[in-house]
Amino acid sequence: MKGKITISLIKPYAVKNGYAGQILAKINEAGFRISAMKYVQLSLGQAKKFYAIHNGQKYFEKLVNFMITGPIVVLLLEKEDAVASYRKLIGATDPHRAEEGTLRKLFGASIEMNAVHGSDSDENAIKEANFFFSEMERF
Ligand code: CMP
Repeated sequence: MKGKITISLIKPYAVKNGYAGQILAKINEAGFRISAMKYVQLSLGQAKKFYAIHNGQKYFEKLVNFMITGPIVVLLLEKEDAVASYRKLIGATDPHRAEEGTLRKLFGASIEMNAVHGSDSDENAIKEANFFFSEMERF
């Protein structure tokens, strides 16, 4: 699976604003296959664990507190060169700098409250997939 999967989170702000459907449509149009999907509310401990590689950054507390403000949609996506391809679809972390038409440009509010997460490497995609999905939940 290495190279073929990535994890996306549709974050609380985008879910609350009703953007999940439009984001899913764009993911489909871009040729990703959704091999697992769920709607979850993270606890503070789970958010800290998921974003552990960011622990120590000045934005860490804000990030994890934002991520527990409401439910998120978690997606396991499959495509050739999935990590890079999905990062292209979502655009730069800061929606104000993201390219026109990207998910973060279209649906994000700020760097702290951007619309979606995408794995940043194949190794992290595998770790993140294992964090959220058991084998029984993957199709
Ligand atoms: P995400 O792809 O979910 O991964 C880490 C998140 O940290 C990132 O999106 C941003 O929403 C958030 N973040 C907040 N401030 C910063 C910053 N200055 N640089 C990078 N990421 C930041």
